[in-house]
Amino acid sequence: MIIPQEKIDEIVQASDIVDVISSYTQVKRRGKAFLALCPFHPDKNPSLNISQQKQVYHCFACGASGNVFTFVMEYDKITFVEAATKLAFRAGIELNIRSSAPDVTNEISRLFEINKMAARFFYDKLQTVAGYEKDFVNDYLKKREIKNDILRKFGVGYAEKGWDALLNHFREENIFSEEDIEKSGLIITNEKGKTYDRFRGRLMFPIFSENDKVVGFGGRKLFDDDPGGKYINSPETRIYNKSRILYGLNFARESIRANEYVLLVEGYFDVISLYQAGIHNVVASSGTALTTEQVQLISRYTKNVVMLYDADLAGIKATRRGIELVLEAGLDLSVVTLPEGEDPDSMVRTKGKEEFEVHLNNRKSIIEFISELYNKENKLSTVQEKTEFVKEIIGYISRIPDKIKRAFFIKEIAGKYGLYESDLRDELEKAVKVFRKEYFTKSSVVLPDKKTYKKQDKKNEPNAGEFDALKILVSGDHIAIEKFERLFNYEYIENKIVLEIIQVLLDEYMNFGKIEVNKVINNFENSDAKKLLGMVSTSKYEASKAENAGRDTLLFKTENTKIDYSKMVDEVFHWFEKRMRDRDTETENDPEKRLQLIINKKRLTNQKMKK
Ligand code: UTP
Ligand code: MN
Repeated sequence: MIIPQEKIDEIVQASDIVDVISSYTQVKRRGKAFLALCPFHPDKNPSLNISQQKQVYHCFACGASGNVFTFVMEYDKITFVEAATKLAFRAGIELNIRSSAPDVTNEISRLFEINKMAARFFYDKLQTVAGYEKDFVNDYLKKREIKNDILRKFGVGYAEKGWDALLNHFREENIFSEEDIEKSGLIITNEKGKTYDRFRGRLMFPIFSENDKVVGFGGRKLFDDDPGGKYINSPETRIYNKSRILYGLNFARESIRANEYVLLVEGYFDVISLYQAGIHNVVASSGTALTTEQVQLISRYTKNVVMLYDADLAGIKATRRGIELVLEAGLDLSVVTLPEGEDPDSMVRTKGKEEFEVHLNNRKSIIEFISELYNKENKLSTVQEKTEFVKEIIGYISRIPDKIKRAFFIKEIAGKYGLYESDLRDELEKAVKVFRKEYFTKSSVVLPDKKTYKKQDKKNEPNAGEFDALKILVSGDHIAIEKFERLFNYEYIENKIVLEIIQVLLDEYMNFGKIEVNKVINNFENSDAKKLLGMVSTSKYEASKAENAGRDTLLFKTENTKIDYSKMVDEVFHWFEKRMRDRDTETENDPEKRLQLIINKKRLTNQKMKK
């Protein structure tokens, strides 16, 4: 859809930036200016500055800036057209969207349209299906006690038992080619060339993207004669990446922000039942085990995760892996356990919201949660068992990026189990090393061979990786910087000035929780350091420096040219690791160089210790 310029002008006229931002976050007047808590980074003191005169905002802390459209786009994670539509609605401006004409100009939008059309078809079928299927489905829904308004809200539908109900519908409508429909995963062609519906005789849950678009489906088995699994999900498509979608997030967003935590559950029905009971800040990692990307998604809305997985064995296993991922992302975590055999859906339906909330309020820290697991299996009596328990816990703690938080956890364990903090700290130190190693061998990133970087080693010039390391600290988000802090190794850096800058920036971050370059820059007496920092901080510096150095640059070519700093940490550190390994082997036969290397290392390690 294209919104004509005069409509956009009309929307601008009718949408005062202070009014609009006030509807999202509290705005205070300071003289001529307006100040608000910045919603784009964790903000304790209002640092979002709004100019009513210029109709723009700018955050002094995180650098977010823009106009009324970008604010809504960024806050709601929606496109320009969607933001304009929202603002138009708010101002009572008619947009006259020709909603009946779907956008079929490119494959992506065709896939969205196909899914939407299918979702509507399934939803209608839930009301109109006839014969014995009708009674069966109605009985089932009655059993599961989901009310009509909730079915409607979540777009729950029904896929008929026949082989080609949906296919025929698409044929009748005759808007999309069968090739495109097949790309959506909704229909399948077998080896014999026969085409049929993927979902048959199933209750259908449309899976929505963060901004309310149907990207796929989950279908629950209803009939005993169905040989398929309990749930079948759409295959991955160009618009459906399982590891990047959280079921229910589009409905939960506001509530997550308002409650300042998210409830993480396992299944479609858990999300829907809790929502029906009035608990709206719920999402599920349906169809996959929790992934790093999903955790990143969560971290954009809140730093607090409450995990609520089934008490069965599979549930506990999922919880353990989930704990690791959540902690790695630097989020705070607690766990809710339900009585054996219950899941959130069954619990809230049979016992009611109040009793469910008793469990919810009784959430446990990871230490409590894990110790309970050991206790349940009677595995906390011998010294050996206790040791195992402490080691598991320390394994989790080693993933927390924040040193101070790690220290608190160590204190808690020491107190609870009568152990020396220093012993635990040694153990933690080891675990951090193991984790780092595991972390770096796990992901496979294409690295350049050493020839490509050797060429650009001019004297005193920071190398490509060093430039990027600075860039991450100067422009990266909290997640990226915390990851940087946790995984950084002083031996990565060969350039003394870069090392000095990194030390100062990391100190700043640890002390103040953010890095403000314009404040820090005056701390440097060394003018080379000032210059370098200034250069990296100006937007003119592009990560393309690295490109010239021949380093893998895939990551800098992200679709919307937004740099994924967290990913950049991985890539850059991989590069450093590789470079370090090469450095060591290269000098192996040269005793003099080798000695120098050892001395260097010692010196750097000493510096690190002094800190
Ligand atoms: P559960 O087996 O716990 O199902 O799977 P559930 O959500 O409680 O479903 P009901 O209440 O029996 O209907 C949890 C989640 O794991 C995924 C689904 O997303 C499901 O909601 N799953 C499960 C699959 O993708 N495939 C399966 O075969 C089973
Ligand atoms: Mn269930």
